[in-house]
Amino acid sequence: MNAKLRRKLIETAKRARERAYCPYSHFPVGAAVLTDENRLFFGANVENASYGLTICAERVAIANAITRGAKGIQAICIVGRAPKPCGACRQVMAEFSSKDTPILLVDVGPDSRKESIIRLKMKQVLPHAFDPLEAGLIPPNPQNLVKRRRTKAARKPVRKTKLKKKR
Ligand code: THU
Repeated sequence: MNAKLRRKLIETAKRARERAYCPYSHFPVGAAVLTDENRLFFGANVENASYGLTICAERVAIANAITRGAKGIQAICIVGRAPKPCGACRQVMAEFSSKDTPILLVDVGPDSRKESIIRLKMKQVLPHAFDPLEAGLIPPNPQNLVKRRRTKAARKPVRKTKLKKKR
């Protein structure tokens, strides 16, 4: 991702933050994803009076991208005050990322003026993510191997363990 594209990703997430529906927390979060096909999608948090039904900005952005045909994610940007993706979002991000996918956390501060950026990789954001390939939930075919960038487990053949017979 070049500097121009990175700036576009950040600005998209910043604008997305203005769409947040957060009457309960008053904590707007914006997110943007750059897909493998170089398309940009965005999302913002959508809260609910039944608080637990709230959807985080990251998941809205990812659902937007995937339901519009994206196959994978090249970069993710999250904008807010000290933004840190929640645990659930980290696993959802991992589903469509590689271990090296850049994750940009853009802190806009209390008055939305300052901008400090933390740049991380997916594997730092969620080490030891639950991986469908490692778990044998998807076959280690060439397509899946490319997508997962050849994880250690994927290189090894899947070993079938025999279960002991019940007596
Ligand atoms: N939130 C996000 O949208 N993304 C995150 O990474 C963390 C939290 C939202 C959920 C809720 O609407 C508000 O921030 C406060 O928790």
